[in-house]
Amino acid sequence: MKGKSMKVISIINQKGGVGKTQTSVNVAVGLSLQGKRVLIIDADAQGNCTSYLSEGINELDLKDIIQKNPGKKNPLIWLKDVLGNETFEKDISNLLLNDYTRVEECIYKTKYENLDIIPSTDTKLIKTDQLINVDNKLRHNRLKRALRQVKDQYDFVIIDNAPTFNCITLNTLFCADQIIIPLKIGRFELSGFIQVMQEIETLMYDYESDYDVSVVWQMVHRGNRPINNAFIEMFGSTFNQYEFEYNLNVMDSTIGYQEAVASKSTLNTKMIIEGNSKLAEDYKKLVNEILNERN
Ligand SMILES: Nc1ncnc2c1ncn2[C@@H]1O[C@H](COP(=O)(O)OP(=O)(O)OP(=O)(O)O)[C@@H](O)[C@H]1O
Ligand SMILES: [Mg+2]
Repeated sequence: MKGKSMKVISIINQKGGVGKTQTSVNVAVGLSLQGKRVLIIDADAQGNCTSYLSEGINELDLKDIIQKNPGKKNPLIWLKDVLGNETFEKDISNLLLNDYTRVEECIYKTKYENLDIIPSTDTKLIKTDQLINVDNKLRHNRLKRALRQVKDQYDFVIIDNAPTFNCITLNTLFCADQIIIPLKIGRFELSGFIQVMQEIETLMYDYESDYDVSVVWQMVHRGNRPINNAFIEMFGSTFNQYEFEYNLNVMDSTIGYQEAVASKSTLNTKMIIEGNSKLAEDYKKLVNEILNERN
C-alpha cells in the first residue's frame, strides 16, 4: 500500500441496530491484522466502538456479575464499575469543537498493534452536535482538516456513526472517500435505506462531492431461508446495473446472522473476526473485498 493515499471510509445508516458498530470494529481490526495502519473514529455518543477497543473495558460474565451483586450500594454506580471504563483526556468532541486541539492529542492506541482510535466518551457528542449547529463558524470541514494532518500515518480511516444524520455525520461524510451502508432485510430497514441514499444524494449534488457508496447486507439468515439469498441477489444485480450519477456498489460479501456469536459479543468485547465462526469468515471476506477495491 506504500505510496497510496489514506482512504477514509464512513459507515453510516440512520437506522439503529443494523450492524454499523460491528462492521466498523471488525473491518478496522481485520485491516490492521493484514498489516494496514488503521485509525478508527468513534463518531457516536454511545461510544460502543470505544468500548470494544479500549483496554480498560471489562469482559462481562453474567455469573460473575450476579456474585458481585451491589447489596445496598447505589446500583447505578455499581453498574458503572462492573462495566469498567477508560478515561481519555481528549476525544472526538474536543477535536470538533476546539480549533487549537491537534488531532494527535485525540488519538490513542488500542489493544491491536496497527490500530489507533479517536474515542467518544461520556455522551459529550450530543452537546457537541448542538454546539456545532449554533456556531456561526462553518465546522463541517473540521474533521476533514484534522485528518489531513495524519494522512501519511494511516492507510485506512474507519468511522463508526450514530444512528442519526447530524452535524457530526456531516463532518464524517465531508472527509470520506467511501461510504459503507450496512443494511438489513426488513421493511423499516429498506425504507431507512432510501432515506440515507436521499441524504447522501443531496449532499453530493449540493457540494459536488464524489463518493463511492457501498451497501453491505447484514445479519442475513442463512440456510433455512433461501428466499433471502434470492432477494439479495436480485437487489444486487438491479442496483449494480442501474447507472446512478455516482458509484453505487452492492458488495459481494454479506454478513450472516449468528445468534450465539451475537449474544456473546454483547457481553464481551472479543472481536468476531478473530474467532473461527462462520461470521468471522464473512467479515474476513468483507475485509478482502475492501482491500481489493483499493488495488
Ligand atoms: N451478524 C450478526 N449476527 C447477529 N447479531 C448481530 C450481528 N451483527 C450485529 N449483531 C448484533 O446486533 C446488535 C446491533 O449491532 P450494532 O451495534 O453493530 O448495530 P449499530 O448499527 O451500530 O447500532 P446503533 O445504531 O445503535 O449504533 C448488537 O447487539 C450486535 O451484537
Ligand atoms: Mg453503533
